[in-house]
Amino acid sequence: MQNNILIVGSGAMGSQIGMLGALAGYRTTIQDISEPSLAAARDQLATRMDHFVAKGRLDRAEADTALARLNFTTSLEEGAADADFVIEAATEKLDVKRAIFTALDKAAPANTVLATNSSTYGSSKVASATGRPDKVCNMHFFNPALVMKCVEVVRHDQTSQETVDSTMELARALGKSPVLINHEIPGFVANRLMGAIRDEALHLVTAGIASHEDIDTAAKTALGHPMGPFELMDLVGLDVSYLIRMATYEETGRPEDLPHPALKALYEQGRYGKKTGHGWYEYDQSGTKLP
Ligand code: 3HC
Repeated sequence: MQNNILIVGSGAMGSQIGMLGALAGYRTTIQDISEPSLAAARDQLATRMDHFVAKGRLDRAEADTALARLNFTTSLEEGAADADFVIEAATEKLDVKRAIFTALDKAAPANTVLATNSSTYGSSKVASATGRPDKVCNMHFFNPALVMKCVEVVRHDQTSQETVDSTMELARALGKSPVLINHEIPGFVANRLMGAIRDEALHLVTAGIASHEDIDTAAKTALGHPMGPFELMDLVGLDVSYLIRMATYEETGRPEDLPHPALKALYEQGRYGKKTGHGWYEYDQSGTKLP
């Protein structure tokens, strides 16, 4: 049984995963090297809890209790010292992640599982930066993490069954429906499915077959998807989509894995989607899509 959870990284994913932990009753620490990022995460989560209360999903006291279970720190060592389970959700850069895992290995108790939320890197890539590769796996959440039910638990060759079991158990305790992926493969399962649709959507729009708005409409009204592929790219972040694809290409060396030129162009223009206010669509400051 885990009592204390550490989340490394306070971006969109890390902060919401931390909130899931606090809502499920864990004492949860969110660590980030950036004070402003921690402050923004704290504000956004408080606003999110206000919304839960307004919707009747929690009463005020429950929301306040959950928020009080959250601790914010810039010190990895402080957060890791009594952590029973760590989920790393830092930037998708391998050298950064490996440095974090080496530091976590030193600072966290010997039995603590060190999981990564990465969808880009299989956990063997960070496990080798630790002295406990059997306690390392991927625990991959989906955006927005407070809402999406899926968590992919991905084992690498040395991940122990005990680590898999406790990661699946934690995912269920956070209210998720975990799926187990037995071998590392770029993109795991869900992102591979999403990528196939996204590639076809990019082909259709650049070939002038249909507009991105109409392709999104078709995905929603013909296939019942909650969002079209272009809306989803804007939500996930065109930077994230681009970097995932580049990392896949670096791993496979297959030219067909390179990011689509249309995705590359938006990435190079800094049009990252909802988070920058510009992507396939335009957004106002609250993140609402403009007509
Ligand atoms: N954070 C937290 N909660 C959010 C949210 C956010 N960013 N955006 C929406 N929500 C909540 C809303 O508050 C609402 O909850 P409520 O009923 O309590 O008010 C609920 O989600 C539904 O939102 P809306 O009614 O505003 O809008 P929708 O019904 O369109 O739902 C959506 C929004 C849940 C985002 C839905 O459109 C959806 O499921 N989209 C697909 C998302 C998806 O595919 N995610 C996976 C991306 S891939 C990924 O993350 C992997 C990574 O490796 C790249």
